[in-house]
Amino acid sequence: MSRLLFSSVFSALLLTACPKTESTSPPPSTDASAAEAATPLATTDGKSLVATACLSCHSEQMLAQQRLTQAQWQKVVTKMVGWGANLDPSEVAPLVAYLSSTSGPDAGPYIAETIPASEALAELAPLPDPVPPGDPVRGKSLFIDKCSGCHGQDARGAPGALGVLLVDRPFLHRFADVAKTIRKGRGKMLPLSLSDTEIADILAHLRSLKPAAPAQ
Ligand code: HEC
Ligand code: HEC
Repeated sequence: MSRLLFSSVFSALLLTACPKTESTSPPPSTDASAAEAATPLATTDGKSLVATACLSCHSEQMLAQQRLTQAQWQKVVTKMVGWGANLDPSEVAPLVAYLSSTSGPDAGPYIAETIPASEALAELAPLPDPVPPGDPVRGKSLFIDKCSGCHGQDARGAPGALGVLLVDRPFLHRFADVAKTIRKGRGKMLPLSLSDTEIADILAHLRSLKPAAPAQ
């Protein structure tokens, strides 16, 4: 009995002690000196932080082109946390250290990856559809239901909407690419499970839309 009492008092003490010990350590600091003190991450760790926290909204190339000082990276990362970057406060300083070592002012000129023109053309070339042409009328209502919330009613994006222009784009004739984007998701676009027939219907609708007339 006394033992039971002792152990419950003891665990109660432990419980109250925990927040106390935490509050004695300083809150995660966001100034550049703290980042300086942090040991830079191993490249793979830095890469995986970038992948989980940044690549949902940005491409790797966009980030690699930056040449920012540590203080500037600190500002950017703090701002991106405000925009919803998925980072634990304890990961901010190591990520800043990683970014300033790989994309700091001394990182040298950014050299864009290039591919031969023939490969670029092959990536845009039309591919045969795996199913018969879809029905644009069914496709339109599917589009309104599943896609227009992000891509706009007329598939041209919309102010404040997440999605991008889908009219008159080469990928509309690359069924496999569109099906993969839809089923796996891409960036902020969540995966949707649609059948080949439904995708063919949506493509028939999107292919029927005319590019916007040039602004007068
Ligand atoms: C939820 C989407 C989102 C995430 C996640 C995100 N960003 Fe951004 N980022 C934005 C937006 C939106 C802008 C444009 C902000 C503006 O113009 O104020 C931006 C701009 C930037 C810029 C340009 C400089 C600037 O301040 O405008 C850099 C560099 C950047 N982000 C880096 C990062 C890094 C590094 C991460 C990961 C830690 C990240 N972003 C995560 C949405 C995001
Ligand atoms: C939750 C919002 C959302 C929904 C719903 C959505 N999309 Fe997207 N979609 C996006 C965003 C954001 C992108 C740009 C992704 C990126 O960063 O590459 C995108 C990209 C795409 C792309 C690639 C465009 C390119 O430039 O390569 C295609 C194709 C596409 N969406 C088709 C669809 C279709 C078809 C549907 C409905 C079945 C749909 N999307 C539903 C948000 C959405």
